[in-house]
Amino acid sequence: MSDTAQSASMGMDARPLTPVVGAEILGVDLGNVDDAQFAFIRQAFDRHAGLLFRGQDLSPEQLVAFSRRFGDLDHAPIMENGQTAVPGLPEVYLVSNIKGPDGKEIGSLGAGEAVWHTDMSYLAAPPDISMLHAIEVPPAGGDTWLCGMNAAYNALPEELKRRVKGLRIKHDGTYNSGGYVRQGVTPTDDPRESPGTYHPVVIAHPNTGQPLLYLGRRRMAHIEGLDLAESEALLDELWSYATREENAYRHHWRIGDVLMWDNRATMHRRDPFDAASRRLMRRTQVKGALKPAAYAG
Ligand code: SIN
Repeated sequence: MSDTAQSASMGMDARPLTPVVGAEILGVDLGNVDDAQFAFIRQAFDRHAGLLFRGQDLSPEQLVAFSRRFGDLDHAPIMENGQTAVPGLPEVYLVSNIKGPDGKEIGSLGAGEAVWHTDMSYLAAPPDISMLHAIEVPPAGGDTWLCGMNAAYNALPEELKRRVKGLRIKHDGTYNSGGYVRQGVTPTDDPRESPGTYHPVVIAHPNTGQPLLYLGRRRMAHIEGLDLAESEALLDELWSYATREENAYRHHWRIGDVLMWDNRATMHRRDPFDAASRRLMRRTQVKGALKPAAYAG
C-alpha cells in the first residue's frame, strides 16, 4: 500500500503549510496515537521539519507521553521565576506571561519578541525537537514563525556555499531568545570570548542527509578563525537568506494547537503581544542524541 493510500485508510493527511517548511496533520488525536499513525507522523516530520495539529485536548501527561515517542525528553531548564519545572512533571516547561499569586510570571519569555533562533544550540548535542501546546492564546500577536534551513541552504549562491564549507560558527550561550541572560553566565560584549559551542555552518540532517544551514542565534555568534568584522559581515549575509518571508511559516495560534519543530532543520521566532493579555504554552523538548555533523556534499 502506498503512503498516501495507507494514510487515507487511517483517515490521516499531511497538508503542507508552505512550499518549504511545515505541514498540518489532520485526523489524529495526539492523546491516542497508534503505531501506524506514529509512523505516518514521524515520516511527515522528517519531510516537513515542522508539524501542526489543531484541536488537541491533551493533559500535560499526554503531551509528555506523545513527546516521548520521539526520544528521551529534557527536563525543563530553570525559568526566569527561579522554578525548575512544573511540580511533578519535570519534562514540562511553561512559556507564559501570566502572573501567579506571588506576582511572578509562571513561565518564561514574558510578552516580548523572541528573536529567531534554534533551541539551546550552545550545547554540544542540542535538543532535536521542541513542541508547544497552546492552553491560552492572546487575541492578537504572539504568532510563532518557523523557517526552513534546507531551503535557506539551497538559496545560497554557489560561491557562498563554497566559502562557508568547512567553517564553524560559535553558538553563544549567554542570552536566551527573549534577551534574558542565562542562569550562572556573566555576559561579555565580545562574541569571541562568550561561552558557547562551535558547530559546522552547514550540517547534514541525521535522518534525511539533507544539507541545513545551522545558524543558532545571531546575537554574539562568531565564525571561527575570522576577525570580528569579517565574521559579522558573513553572518549577516547568511542570516539574510535564512529568514526571508518566502522561507517562513507564520503560525497564528488557536487553543488546542500543537506545533512541533525540528531544531536542526528549522529556526523559530515569536511576535510580541500585549502584556495585558494572557498566553500560556506547555512545552516539551526531545534530547539531542548526536552532535550536529558537517555536511560533506
Ligand atoms: C520558544 O522560542 O520556544 C517559544 C516560542 C513561542 O512562545 O511561541
